[in-house]
Amino acid sequence: MSETSLKICCIGAGYVGGPTMAMIAKQCPDIEVNVVDINESRIAAWNSDTLPIYEPGLDEVVKEARGRNLFFTTEVSAAIKSSDMIFISVNTPTKTFGIGSGRAANLEFVEKCAREIALHSDGHKIVIEKSTLPVRTAEAVKRILNSASNENASFDVLSNPEFLAEGTAVEDLLDPDRVLIGGESQEAIERLADVYGRWVTPASIIKTNLWSSELSKLAANAFLAQRVSSINAISALCEATGADVDEVANAIGTDSRIGPKFLKSSVGFGGSCFQKDILNLVYLCEHFGLPEVAAYWEQVVLMNDYQKRRFSTAVVKTMFNTVSDKKIAIWGFAFKKDTNDTRESAAIYVCRDLLEERARLTIYDPKVGLEQIKQELIYLMTSEYGTLSEKHRQLIDDNVEVANSAEAAASGAHAIAVLTEWDEFKDVDFDAVYRSMKKPAFLFDGRNLMDRCKLNKIGFEVYAMGKS
Ligand code: NAD
Ligand code: UGA
Repeated sequence: MSETSLKICCIGAGYVGGPTMAMIAKQCPDIEVNVVDINESRIAAWNSDTLPIYEPGLDEVVKEARGRNLFFTTEVSAAIKSSDMIFISVNTPTKTFGIGSGRAANLEFVEKCAREIALHSDGHKIVIEKSTLPVRTAEAVKRILNSASNENASFDVLSNPEFLAEGTAVEDLLDPDRVLIGGESQEAIERLADVYGRWVTPASIIKTNLWSSELSKLAANAFLAQRVSSINAISALCEATGADVDEVANAIGTDSRIGPKFLKSSVGFGGSCFQKDILNLVYLCEHFGLPEVAAYWEQVVLMNDYQKRRFSTAVVKTMFNTVSDKKIAIWGFAFKKDTNDTRESAAIYVCRDLLEERARLTIYDPKVGLEQIKQELIYLMTSEYGTLSEKHRQLIDDNVEVANSAEAAASGAHAIAVLTEWDEFKDVDFDAVYRSMKKPAFLFDGRNLMDRCKLNKIGFEVYAMGKS
């Protein structure tokens, strides 16, 4: 396996597999990178001009490498056969059935990958866990691989979790705080470190044992989410006491031991990973007989649920205790700016609450369309109630529409709820928006994005997180 002939395969062409492999291919033109997926339409999109995910700068990275040494294909077995290194980058959602339902990670897709690799491998392969996994998953992966019927097949298993954040994936991949590689074989660790070493400084490549690497990923997400829940908890106290959460965040964040990042109070964290990874951590703690540790981390998720609910309750209460038949403009549906990802977005929960109060919602998100919004609402209502009742389907069909701009969404509305911090919302002509709305015109800022003084002067009644 000489460096110039290295072939990489990545199973899973999602938010992680796609951008991560595109970056490797861009930085290492001599390495052939095949990204495979069973989802045909996703692969077709990766091969088209409209990539399946929106990430600033990603189009350019993909265009540079695609067709040269970066390939997207559904030919899973062929890619496994021809590769020296195989990344497993499939989804690991929270289980929704059976033992550990609602907490444990569903490892079905990871196990299927391991079985596919075992089935199609000939010769030595380095198998790399890129997906976020419960600590000690590599044990099961190794056992499955080692049951391969082909006697020529042999494997090293590494853990190489991904720390990119959506919306900044390209810059995170280009200049990562660190690359983490855990494993038992020093040779395999070095081979993978050599790939990253083409553009990441050696000091930023951390090498650990397998279990530390697997656990560090869960711990990192738990610590990040904990900071958001901590500042959100303080935001509730700010509203009760007259303190201002942004001022508090600034005051505590200047302490170099605390630091300024991840202290932005919001309507609640979303995204496919924070909640799922913390619940997974909680499940692991329970499994290992550590109920106090489990309860400690679970509180981070419970605080987040509280914050989402607190926001929708504030909307209803402020609007004279009823939003029934009122038009509410929802600005932003993605879980954060600069992504089209809506998984676990706080907006889904707030919209569900407002729909149940019989509000009429007009939603504008620059990257999210009506079908995706409806699917998220249907998914939430179905998972919460076990089935989608006719009443809930009707609520969604009759009361959810999209607009093609923030201004159009707000026209004729009783209120605006800002749920994603898209930059373009700051540049809206608020005088015109105010004139187009019903009075009193309410604005609920779930991201503390807006200049409250300016909006108050125009005439808006503004509610913002953590501001009295
Ligand atoms: P995703 O759902 O966007 O993509 C996963 C892909 O895997 C899907 O396209 C699916 O079709 C494919 N897949 C599933 N089983 C397959 C199989 N047997 N063969 C081929 N393809 C298969 O998921 P994602 O957001 O990319 O996350 C992947 C993993 O990375 C998860 O464990 C997640 O926790 C972790 N992670 C995600 C992020 C993020 O920003 N999204 C960041 C860091 C880590
Ligand atoms: C997060 C981590 O930041 C990544 O390191 C990790 O790789 C990834 O999860 C993962 O494992 O999937 P991501 O979820 O893409 O990345 O985005 P973040 O920037 O972490 O934001 C998560 C949520 O927290 C968003 O809803 C965001 O709006 C919210 N948030 C973040 C706040 O409300 N306040 C903050 O100060 C920061």
